[in-house]
Amino acid sequence: MSKPEELKKLEEEIRRNDSLPLRESNLVFGEGNADSLVVFIGEAPGFHEDRLGRPFVGRAGQLLDRLIESAGWKRPHVYITNIVKRRPPENRDPLPEEIEAYKPYLARQIDILNPKIIVPLGRFSMNYFLPAAKITRDQGKVFKVGERFIVPLLHPAAALRSTHVLNELEAAFKKLPEIVESPEKFLPAIEELKKINPPSLSQPNPQETLF
Ligand code: URA
Repeated sequence: MSKPEELKKLEEEIRRNDSLPLRESNLVFGEGNADSLVVFIGEAPGFHEDRLGRPFVGRAGQLLDRLIESAGWKRPHVYITNIVKRRPPENRDPLPEEIEAYKPYLARQIDILNPKIIVPLGRFSMNYFLPAAKITRDQGKVFKVGERFIVPLLHPAAALRSTHVLNELEAAFKKLPEIVESPEKFLPAIEELKKINPPSLSQPNPQETLF
């Protein structure tokens, strides 16, 4: 089966799962190039995403498109998704149990895509990969979890509210192509990595292991 076929099958499985939370909202599975080396992962769909069934299509999405282009890429060339695949009411933060419920599907989606680099956008997505990391301290750094490199970045919605955040995000996106080319060169010192992602946290029980 091709990657797009596998992704379609997974999407249908999520659609059919009546036990998932937020079923009053539409499913926003993710979209883009299944062979992309880079996958961007946001938090959860908002109003516009829910209406169109596509990730990052509101104001934060338009900024994300611009940032992707500033890295010399085009949106259709990368893959974009969220941890939580349906919109929480009133755009509130996703609850821990909502993240838990959708987590196994994100893990399978990543397995299918098999990207070299994962770019979590914002703290919810970052903490899924790096539970003890802090977004303001660790954004833009390169981590290795299993075989994959994780580069957490600030959420574009935060950049809409602060010029300082926007400047940091723009600088981080400009560095991405170089990171994709040789991520090893950017890995933080091993001691720093242990502090941020202690071994006990980086080895969750096998059911929850992502990579
Ligand atoms: N914010 C997100 O985290 N994801 C989206 O899809 C849109 C806005």
